Amino acid sequence: MKICGKISEIKKHLKTEKAKGLTIGFVPTMGYLHEGHLSLVRESLKMTDKTVVSIFVNPTQFGPREDYQQYPRNIQRDTAILEELGVDYLFVPAVEEMYPSGYKTYVEVTDLQNKLCGRSRPGHFRGVCTIVLKLFNIIQPDWSFFGQKDAQQAIIIQKMVEDLNLETKIKVLPIVRDKDGLALSSRNTYLSPTERKAALILYKSLQLARQLFIAGEKKATLIKQAMIDLIHQEPLAKIDYVAIVKMENFEELEIITDKALVAVAVFIGQVRLIDNIILSEKEKTHEKNNAKK
Ligand code: PAF
Repeated sequence: MKICGKISEIKKHLKTEKAKGLTIGFVPTMGYLHEGHLSLVRESLKMTDKTVVSIFVNPTQFGPREDYQQYPRNIQRDTAILEELGVDYLFVPAVEEMYPSGYKTYVEVTDLQNKLCGRSRPGHFRGVCTIVLKLFNIIQPDWSFFGQKDAQQAIIIQKMVEDLNLETKIKVLPIVRDKDGLALSSRNTYLSPTERKAALILYKSLQLARQLFIAGEKKATLIKQAMIDLIHQEPLAKIDYVAIVKMENFEELEIITDKALVAVAVFIGQVRLIDNIILSEKEKTHEKNNAKK
């Protein structure tokens, strides 16, 4: 695995690969890798000729009172894992490489960026889109891989790719969960054992939403209230939002007609966690037929 810290260096390598007609897969990360990231890397290794992973804790996507400084980092462990998996290139730029002094350009996906997580994290998606667009320009991937765990991020990036006529195709892969259902996240490391148990309330609330929907409930308002009531039973949990929205524009739904994104953001102590599921009529029919078997 080649490790590059400089933009010019990684560009040079990838230019050579492309000249050979090879396809490039790209997995952008902030490091502290877990199975969720690795599922993206494995897919890239399967689908493309050369896989590039970036590790960059991007300061512009953190608010002033957020965890940029404390964000978990372990570059040595991450490097060993990626090497073992067979990744071709690891791009690990310094902050000054991506944002040299005098840096002034930012990308915004208007409207979508201000909903759900964007409401409590102003500027977050502006930072995400800016760094992802810069990385896309540097790597010029044929395929880029994102996790469904950050559902809003994945949808916003797909919109940016469409609106700015970018060449990369985006593949979004399912959430990877621990055995008990907790969605994997680098931020889970902040949780104490008691908080780790309490954090299961996110998954439980989503399971409840799914059960109600499969049982025939279509009223989003009612499902949402049931989720809120359940989360309130967990003393360590403080709701940031519980939302049942349209996939394309994150507008709140009253009735689930076809497909809905059910997304939650909940503070467990000081740690803000997110999780989501997609409800769809198609899935409902599938589950009902399976139950009959
Ligand atoms: O999902 C992440 O880890 C980050 O938001 C990303 C896409 C690497 C941009 O910094």
